[in-house]
Amino acid sequence: MPLSEKHEETKTYDDILNAGPPLNQLAREFVTPTDLFFVRNHAAIPHLQLDSYRLGVSGMVTRELSLSLEDIKENFEQRRLTATLQCAGNRRKELVSHKPIDDQLAWDIEAIGTAEWTGVRLGEVLAAAGISSADAAHVAFLGLDTLLRDGARDAYGSSIPLEKALGCEVLLAYAMNGEDLPLAHGCPLRVVVPGYIGARSVKWLSDIRVQESPSDNHFQQVGYKLFPPHIDMYNVDYADGMQLTKLPVNSVIVRPQDRSLLPAGKVAVEGYAMSDGEHEITWVSVSPDGGASWQRAEFINAPQLWTWQLWRAEFELPPGRHELVVRAWDSAANSQPETIASVWNFKGYVNNAWHRVGVTVK
Ligand code: MTE
Repeated sequence: MPLSEKHEETKTYDDILNAGPPLNQLAREFVTPTDLFFVRNHAAIPHLQLDSYRLGVSGMVTRELSLSLEDIKENFEQRRLTATLQCAGNRRKELVSHKPIDDQLAWDIEAIGTAEWTGVRLGEVLAAAGISSADAAHVAFLGLDTLLRDGARDAYGSSIPLEKALGCEVLLAYAMNGEDLPLAHGCPLRVVVPGYIGARSVKWLSDIRVQESPSDNHFQQVGYKLFPPHIDMYNVDYADGMQLTKLPVNSVIVRPQDRSLLPAGKVAVEGYAMSDGEHEITWVSVSPDGGASWQRAEFINAPQLWTWQLWRAEFELPPGRHELVVRAWDSAANSQPETIASVWNFKGYVNNAWHRVGVTVK
């Protein structure tokens, strides 16, 4: 599937592009090559007129701003940050096999990637606009992509608390892995909110609004809300849902893949772990026998904030069926629940149960 696109003056797509890397290419490198970085879109990629592009900043600000990409690049310091983006729907496939989830993408473990983002700090753009009210508590974003819902056209949107928006890690990014942001990833400008579910990192950013309450956009008020396992589409009251923000601790076995047939001998088990980004992953345990015994995995990269932690363990496995399991902890002692049943939710978000992979050794 085409994952990377060089942008042109105008570009159109008829279909909604959603794609991830082949599982055998996932997490092989600490920084994900751009053409292997997953793409998650809720609407068609918008038609862009790059010459007339403007970012609006409004709401509870002293000065409303209308900035071209050049204004942004010239007036604010360029910042670089390596950060992992993970979709709230990553690992939905396991939730679906526990109990059906309708009308959602059944992502396996590939809706995650790490990139070096270049851009400017959102906090510095907000400082230039000036926060005008002590009641300001949220920063809402709108993208240029639109969806038709109940007869009306709405832009994709989302918000984050003002406190997070002012964090040094939150960027308005115009480049990814050293090149102009590709069209599929939000060219010419996107938000990057490290540590939060990917949905808050709004692509094709057109508007920033400082306000008292979270965004009233569908993707803040209906989508990306978490409910306990006993709630379903028939008894849900969306007003009660928990708006997803930080990612919970998670860890995933990438190699070997589920249902692999392996030669007898040493088996290398590799994968990634991720937290809310503010806390490093401190420990990853891997079990070769369904959780009966555990071994500490070694880290492949030095732990760092805002990114995934790649890890590796090795086992001598005798012939037969084996269930490999992984679980992780972060520096705040957060860890993962054991069962899929305890995290199942009817929209299939933030599955962070222990990850299990079945293999057969010949
Ligand atoms: N921004 C806009 N404008 N439209 C979208 O559909 N999808 C969100 C977010 N930003 C989306 C968006 C979701 S759900 C995710 S997980 C990330 O973008 C994915 O970013 P990527 O496609 O660059 O991997």
